[in-house]
Amino acid sequence: MASERPINAIVLAAGEGTRMRSTTPKVLHRICGKPMVGHVLDSLSELALEHVVVVVGHGAAEVSAAVHELPRHGGTLDTVVQPQQRGTGDAVNVALASPTFDDDDADDDVIVLAGDQPLLRAETLAALVRAHREHDAAATVLTAVLDDATGLGRIVRGRDGRVERIVEHADASDEERAITEINTSIYCFRRNLLAPALRRITPSNAQGEYYLTDAIEVLRAAGHRVVASVTDDPAEALGVNDRSQLAAAEGVLRDRINLAWMRAGVSMVDPSRTYIDATVRLSPDVRILPGVFLEGSTVVGTGSVLGPDSRVCNSSLGERVVVEHSIVHDSVLADDTAVGPFAHLRAGTQLAADARVGAFVETKQASIGTGTKVPHLAYIGDAEVGAQANIACGTITANYDGANKHRTVIGADVHTGCNSVLVAPVTIGDGATIASGAIVTHDVPVGALAKGVPARFTEGFDRPRKPARDANPSSDRAQSESAPAEEN
Ligand code: UD1
Ligand code: CA
Repeated sequence: MASERPINAIVLAAGEGTRMRSTTPKVLHRICGKPMVGHVLDSLSELALEHVVVVVGHGAAEVSAAVHELPRHGGTLDTVVQPQQRGTGDAVNVALASPTFDDDDADDDVIVLAGDQPLLRAETLAALVRAHREHDAAATVLTAVLDDATGLGRIVRGRDGRVERIVEHADASDEERAITEINTSIYCFRRNLLAPALRRITPSNAQGEYYLTDAIEVLRAAGHRVVASVTDDPAEALGVNDRSQLAAAEGVLRDRINLAWMRAGVSMVDPSRTYIDATVRLSPDVRILPGVFLEGSTVVGTGSVLGPDSRVCNSSLGERVVVEHSIVHDSVLADDTAVGPFAHLRAGTQLAADARVGAFVETKQASIGTGTKVPHLAYIGDAEVGAQANIACGTITANYDGANKHRTVIGADVHTGCNSVLVAPVTIGDGATIASGAIVTHDVPVGALAKGVPARFTEGFDRPRKPARDANPSSDRAQSESAPAEEN
């Protein structure tokens, strides 16, 4: 049965993309965090493809490497180099001549599309394939009706309404240029009919190129059925040729992403000011305030509130996390943690549950224990801080000796004083207290007080403590000594 034919795809991505004015190959420009060609491969994901071949040329090595880094959707994925960009017909020929398609007479369908059309939706491709099979067509072209068709190939239909050929803008008569139905350059072909048709096309046209579009007329002339499937969303036809089209495409994709998340239970105060990469995963009841960028592999748990004006990259956020006016990179934030305003969590930061990192704090390669507070103006780098500690305003882990980075280990229930400097490598024992202004150059024993420059220790120091909230509220522990540590 016709509908059981295997299906493959060819993605054309050899062109130079001159109008981007970029050293980056066009199809590698990112849209919502993913290279354009990645979105194109995603659009193929709902079809059970056996093989995908990406035709590369300009920046071939770079494009091939990037394509192989992309998430896979099943089936094989190969790139083939088109040595000279002699037109879309030549590009398809190069793909068909690749080892992937060496079984010349196999009867399969092959989708052809371009690597610079990131707005194509999987549903649209599925509908294209359905139409192709329902009509038992040799070729099915995805078309769109546009107000301004300038520059695009026009669909020329006969009196009976059937597609006769496609004429490129440069080759079209005035009458043909008045046609508003255009070729999106997305097709489904019977491979064993396409290959011979391509052998018959010539570069005798305004651009001196082998036009894939000419295969339509060749197939028609040979008596084969050619069908047009009209998309109801002309935005899908939007190819990206320059930076303004890149921005426009990103705007469309961003709206789609935001709409999908809102439908999935995410609140956005202002979707037009919410920037979520295609690769990010959110949970229901996440609330996003304006000016938030969620990037890369970021995952956010339910009940979290992000923003305003924050950026979270490649980070994993648990449930009920708050990030306000802050930057978070490559970090892991457990449930009920709070960040900001104005914090900078650099790569390798880990916040255990209930930890809090506040204003003007920078962290890097730092794990902060359960319930620990770093409320303001601190630098915690290459460090490990235990649970229920309090890191006061102005505490610095001096991790760098000019050549090497050293670690600071701060135990559980440690309180540091304002403007204390912990000169790494150094370990602060559990329950220790660092006085304000201390410069700690040696390991501090468990429960000791470190005071002075350089710090000297008093062992067995009994720091003033608040009555435990869940214990006897009439606790009469002395509040006599002035607290060396600062609290938020
Ligand atoms: C093409 C179509 C046109 C359609 C338009 C939609 C042809 C002749 N014309 O025109 O009918 O309306 O797309 O956007 O096909 N490529 C290669 N190798 C080549 C030439 C191109 O890989 O030798 C790739 C390009 O990188 C690009 C795609 O094919 O991804 C389309 O090529 P392009 O030259 O941009 O075709 P258009 O002039 O836009
Ligand atoms: Ca184009």
